[in-house]
Amino acid sequence: MTQTTKHQKLDSIWKRGCDFLGTEHAILGGAMSWISERNLVSAISNAGGFGIIACGSMNPDMLAAEIKATFELTKKPFGVNLITMHPELDALIDVCTELKVSHVVLAGGLPSSASIKRIKEGGAKAICFSPALILAKKLIRSGADALVIEGSEAGGHIGPVSTSVLVQEILPYIAKVPVFVAGGIGNGKMMASYMKLGASGCQIGTRFVCSTECVAHENFKKAFIKANARDAMPTVQIDPKFPVIPVRALQNKGTQEFMEFQKKTADKFHNNEATQKEAQLEIEHYWVGALRNAAIDGDVENGSLMAGQCVGMVKSEQPVSEIINEFTEQAEEALTVFEQP
Ligand SMILES: Cc1cc2nc3c(=O)[nH]c(=O)nc-3n(C[C@H](O)[C@H](O)[C@H](O)COP(=O)(O)O)c2cc1C
Repeated sequence: MTQTTKHQKLDSIWKRGCDFLGTEHAILGGAMSWISERNLVSAISNAGGFGIIACGSMNPDMLAAEIKATFELTKKPFGVNLITMHPELDALIDVCTELKVSHVVLAGGLPSSASIKRIKEGGAKAICFSPALILAKKLIRSGADALVIEGSEAGGHIGPVSTSVLVQEILPYIAKVPVFVAGGIGNGKMMASYMKLGASGCQIGTRFVCSTECVAHENFKKAFIKANARDAMPTVQIDPKFPVIPVRALQNKGTQEFMEFQKKTADKFHNNEATQKEAQLEIEHYWVGALRNAAIDGDVENGSLMAGQCVGMVKSEQPVSEIINEFTEQAEEALTVFEQP
């Protein structure tokens, strides 16, 4: 357990976010498949942030085991991130309800009102990603208790619009629920600036990958420490008639292999060997496997090194508490500077 410092300005500016999450700091540890498991999640929560388990492709039993194991490691609040296209989504929500998870995040596509309702009826708060203002309003009407807006600087699956533009388009117009900002947040000064613009807190992924408590393979962590912002590039859609969601990752042999896989999968769709949904699901399965290869097995040549642009700010392996302390110190300092005449 870490001792954390009080920051007067920060404590006041992110109070809404902290109250919503039940935490000391309104810093969400963005769910990362394979990586955001019991160890990283509990470390973030124990350091005063809000850890989030990445359910990814887990089945309900696996998710239940992960949640129970996380409860063993922390008494502080944490959440669970579920992918909306998971074929057992309802059963996964029910696991969260049974185990009394306080917050459920719905990611990977626009969630249905029914999923949001199911989470809330189970007693948890529903957090949803919103890629545009119009969708933010729709999600709030559907019952979302908070929103995350994530820009294209982020690691993993990304939308087309940068964080700085989304913030301007969405933050001033959403007052009803807390909004957390994600994507490209590499230090506390940036975090403070988004809160000055109305965010209730921030979600951070890439900066937590090289934490001591994170189970990612040492090869994966070394690749992060070596990389610069420009190495973290999005994949491109090679067939205009076959949409795929871009993934931001460090370039390697695996990136090239994905382009070939994408072409083969698109051909299957055009030849009526698979429906668009089936073909897109194949692409998603590809990513799940490729990320595991790199992040867990350490094959950083052929696997996927999903990383955000702020990877260039990852300089060493550090304990989670140290990373969070850096963010809060820098944010408090920035807020003090903003207030000077
Ligand atoms: C390796 C990696 C895996 C990720 N996996 C997921 C995921 O399974 N579900 C999800 O909602 N977001 C996922 N993300 C996005 C993070 O939760 C987070 O929103 C993002 O990393 C924030 O941007 P940043 O990397 O610039 O800090 C992933 C990001 C990375 C870097």
